[in-house]
Amino acid sequence: MDTKRWSVDKNVDNLTGYPQITQAADLLLNNEVVAFPTETVYGLGANAYSDQAVAKIFEAKGRPADNPLIIHIADEAMISDFVEEIPENAKKLMKAYWPGPLTILLKMKQGVLSEMATPGLSTVGVRMPDHPVALALLQKTKLPIAAPSANSSGRPSPTAAEHVWDDLQGKIAGIVDGGTTGVGLESTVLDCTEDVPVILRPGGITAQQIQEVIGEIAVDPALTDVEQQPKSPGMKYRHYAPDATLVLVDGDRSEIQRLILDKQKEGLKVGVLTTSENASFYQADKVIACGSRDNLNSVAGSLYETLRNFNNAELDLIFSEMFPDEGVGQAIMNRLIKAAGYRVISF
Ligand code: TXA
Ligand code: MG
Repeated sequence: MDTKRWSVDKNVDNLTGYPQITQAADLLLNNEVVAFPTETVYGLGANAYSDQAVAKIFEAKGRPADNPLIIHIADEAMISDFVEEIPENAKKLMKAYWPGPLTILLKMKQGVLSEMATPGLSTVGVRMPDHPVALALLQKTKLPIAAPSANSSGRPSPTAAEHVWDDLQGKIAGIVDGGTTGVGLESTVLDCTEDVPVILRPGGITAQQIQEVIGEIAVDPALTDVEQQPKSPGMKYRHYAPDATLVLVDGDRSEIQRLILDKQKEGLKVGVLTTSENASFYQADKVIACGSRDNLNSVAGSLYETLRNFNNAELDLIFSEMFPDEGVGQAIMNRLIKAAGYRVISF
């Protein structure tokens, strides 16, 4: 398949009138899949009403069929088409954080959306992305768009059109290139069908930001305990992994440097994931500074690109520093620990 590619300047006004948006929207209306930028990562979109369209997402990504998709909308009024009820908590959160990186799970009306988008579930995850290109496509098609991250399953999510191209060229109808995304990690997934809403995946909106609006929330125990079965099907799969073995190190930089030297003596090629503060300290086969510790948002913004860049260095092993498990650091640590397949060395 020939994958079309359009460039769009996300800063221009009235994007819905642009030919690139019209052409991409036409493909979506014809039940083809198209990748587009959101404020978190690039999504791979399809008409959420159509089995034929949604099937193409799973095929292109190589995604396990039991992993549900988030439904993207530009207009809150559209939700009532496929959702039973919107609890008060959810309404408050939509008012506070939509458009934005918060996916809200709600009770779904059966038989409206493609069943493949929410396989065997009674809930549906809904989100309004905060990105002019995504919103223009949603407004133009007037469809709810099912969209997972636009990577091949298992690879780091794409934060630039180039990443989508590397993973999916020839497998999808088109890519709208709107530049690099902002947040860099996916949306927070919050189950609002429980009396006390539960975070199933930490993301762009922090636990504290949610608590500020609705008070008490819970966190899926599977996020901190490997033995537990996660409530969000997607969280059980190996994810975000670079080609080399990634290991998190809970220690200071001299301890990490010692590990690097030990492994190099064994003949391995070793990289280190650090931040601008420590980058010049390390001697390794590849040192990548992923943002700055002073500003964890910069780490979130660069994390997936950093994981992809390690693949160009043909390493055997990557050691990564750890990050504080609070605020956006919770999402960073969640992705890193999954990318590392739960391998952590503690000093
Ligand atoms: O920021 C984002 O959320 C990006 C952009 C493109 O919007 N999308 C994204 O989609 O990250 P995906 O498919 O890569 O991740 C969706 C996660 C998966 O872990 C999935 O299992 C979970 O959300 N999920 C979706 N619907 C669900 C549901 N009804 N019940 C439980 N988990 C759900
Ligand atoms: Mg994903």
